[in-house]
Order: sequence, then structure tokens, then C-alpha cells
Amino acid sequence: MTGVTTRTISVKDTDAYRKVYDLREEVLRQPIGLSLKDEDLSGDDLDTVVIAESGGELLGCVMIHPTHEPSVLKLRQMAVSPAHQKKGIGQLMIAAAEEECKRAGAGRIILHARLTAEDFYKKLGYATVSDTFTEVGLPHVVMEKPL
Ligand SMILES: CC(C)(COP(=O)(O)OP(=O)(O)OC[C@H]1O[C@@H](n2cnc3c(N)ncnc32)[C@H](O)[C@@H]1OP(=O)(O)O)[C@@H](O)C(=O)NCCC(=O)NCCS
Repeated sequence: MTGVTTRTISVKDTDAYRKVYDLREEVLRQPIGLSLKDEDLSGDDLDTVVIAESGGELLGCVMIHPTHEPSVLKLRQMAVSPAHQKKGIGQLMIAAAEEECKRAGAGRIILHARLTAEDFYKKLGYATVSDTFTEVGLPHVVMEKPL
């Protein structure tokens, strides 16, 4: 998709973070009858957020979260605006997030993938390394990729 750029923001960038919050709510919570309002979001403070945008409109986000292992970073809250899915934006954001993780010194990325998104991550080189488990009421697997 042309005209789409990525950049990283901090959750301290309140205007951008508010838009990210709204997109996460729309794409990741409302469709399954949940709300971020009911969750402890204090962990967000530790995250770097990769966003995709075009003409000032937020099209997608993914958050990079530290783990207990310094060389391992976790991707979470991956969401592309419904009108813009399947146009390459997710792939673009994962590439930008991987670069950011490398820059931060990580040697491996992990993530919890919804089963409905497992093949998306497989296409981008992620391998499934767990059995299926339930998170936010949905089946997930742990996936990882060396950098
Ligand atoms: C899953 C999601 C992040 C993918 O982003 P996207 O911008 O739609 O994906 P892209 O257009 O970059 O797709 C890249 C490739 O993966 C494929 N793909 C995209 N979503 C897929 C899915 N859910 N399952 C299988 N393949 C998928 C695309 O067809 C494309 O394949 P191609 O290169 O052969 O053409 C996005 O669809 C989304 O936000 N979905 C709803 C929320 C969600 O499931 N988030 C992930 C939670 S773990």
C-alpha cells in the first residue's frame, strides 16, 4: 500500500497513545465483547509502540514489551484498522518492529498469536512453540522468531 509510513512512539506521547488505545479497543476488544477499560494497562508504560499511518490517520499498531530475559522482546496488541487489513500494513509493521527489537539488542522475538492469525505470523518466519492455550477467551499459541 502506498503512502503508509511507520514510526515508533512512547506511551508518554499522549495524543498518539490515545489513538492507539482506540484502535486496540476497536480491533482487539469490541469484537469479542471485552473492553480495555476492564484491564490493568500499567504494563503499557514499559512498551515501545510501532504505528503505521497515512496522512495522519492511524492504520495499525503493535507494542514491544520487555520480558524477564533481556535478549527476548515480546510483540503484543497487533492490530490493523479493519478497512485496511490484507493490504500489507501488518507485514510492514512487523518488519519495523523487528528492526526496533534488533536496535534494542534483542536476539529473539516472542508473541502470543490468536489461532486466526497464526498463518499470518508463519508467513513472516515465526514458528509455533507451544500447545494451544486460552487468552481473552480465545485460542492462542506462543510463536517465536530469532533475529
Ligand atoms: C492479523 C493482522 C494483524 C494482519 O495484518 P494485515 O495488514 O491484515 O496483513 P498483511 O496484509 O500484512 O498480510 C501479510 C500476509 O499475511 C496474510 N494474512 C493476513 N492476515 C492473515 C490471517 N489472519 N491468516 C492468514 N494469513 C493472513 C496476507 O494474505 C498476506 O499474505 P501474502 O503475502 O501471501 O499476500 C490484521 O488482519 C488484524 O489486525 N486482524 C485482526 C486482529 C488480530 O487478529 N490481531 C492479531 C492478534 S495475535
